[in-house]
Amino acid sequence: MSAKDNDSILAGRRQPDDPADIALRPTTLGDLIGQDLVKQNLQIQLTAAKQRGEALEHVLFYGPPGLGKTTLAHILASEMGVHIKVTSGPAVERAGDLAAILTNLHAGDILFIDEVHRLGRNVEEILYPAMEDFALDIIIGKGPAAKSVRLKLPRFTVVGATTRLALLTAPLRARFGAVYRLDYYDEAALAQIIRRGADLLHVPFDQEGIREIACRSRGTPRIALRILRRVRDFAEVKADGCITANVAVESLELMNIDGMGLDDLDRRVLLCIIEKYNGGPVGLNTVAASVSEEADTIMDVVEPYLMQLGFLERTAQGRVATPLAHAHLGKPYNGSREQPTLFNQGS
Ligand SMILES: Nc1ncnc2c1ncn2[C@@H]1O[C@H](COP(=O)(O)OP(=O)(O)OP(=O)(O)O)[C@@H](O)[C@H]1O
Ligand SMILES: [Mg+2]
Repeated sequence: MSAKDNDSILAGRRQPDDPADIALRPTTLGDLIGQDLVKQNLQIQLTAAKQRGEALEHVLFYGPPGLGKTTLAHILASEMGVHIKVTSGPAVERAGDLAAILTNLHAGDILFIDEVHRLGRNVEEILYPAMEDFALDIIIGKGPAAKSVRLKLPRFTVVGATTRLALLTAPLRARFGAVYRLDYYDEAALAQIIRRGADLLHVPFDQEGIREIACRSRGTPRIALRILRRVRDFAEVKADGCITANVAVESLELMNIDGMGLDDLDRRVLLCIIEKYNGGPVGLNTVAASVSEEADTIMDVVEPYLMQLGFLERTAQGRVATPLAHAHLGKPYNGSREQPTLFNQGS
């Protein structure tokens, strides 16, 4: 990760768990704000599993970074009163690593696999029977004398998280009993999350101040809380410590975050498409090279929000900046896409 990514407060992408983040992390399902449908379903699943005295079914969470996948995995463990073992797709390199993790699990435990789409093929093959039959197939010996031994595992729960559901192999996806999509939060939910954070941090605020932060947090709790901490610094240094609308706006301007929550990278991506490629269509890799960013970052972090705002379209030919994006950046739109020749034959 480059220094630039760390600088960008809006880079909602994964960073090593920030102690400040962990302190603000909700610990029960009741504490979790928003995602009502997911919460209701999980509550039913939890209650049913507890009533039957069984382990929870395998659960998969997917959605853009910073929306609460890791948080939910920890909440499931604390609601079930079980241990959670945390690992991630790229961390489990060899089949033996996974076998070691699996044999150390106790009945009911949760194995949280972050970035589950990045598990290697050979590791996945160990995981299939483990998830389905709670069994571990190991080969003992070599050559003609080798024999396969099946070890029984305790009933445990895999909780997977991914930002890219499409990259998950079909057999792996099929082994999750419940799949939940996390969506961007609306402004009211974000405001509630920010208020909760401000209370926990003992920062005084007024409602307008909170609203200013909420509407520029691009629907993402991680970004909302990160901005909150930066605005708190600003309020303490440049004002009397209270987060008011003025304090929030001034400090957000200093962070180069505009009224729609776009940061420098978002604007560079849009400007590149508009100015260099006449609004598009242009391929993702070309855009990435032009703005000197990784294509993955643009696809996972930048584009979902721009598409949600209706600023960007992904077409078969490439990325296209919409008339709304042109208007937001104060660029003239040549309008060719809006005027099909069929209706303009006379002119
Ligand atoms: N619904 C929520 N209510 C309150 N805080 C939340 C909520 N969801 C997320 N957060 C906060 O946002 C931060 C980021 O959430 P989390 O780490 O769970 O995201 P994630 O989906 O796992 O992201 P990534 O894909 O990058 O791993 C957490 O530290 C937590 O404090
Ligand atoms: Mg996470």
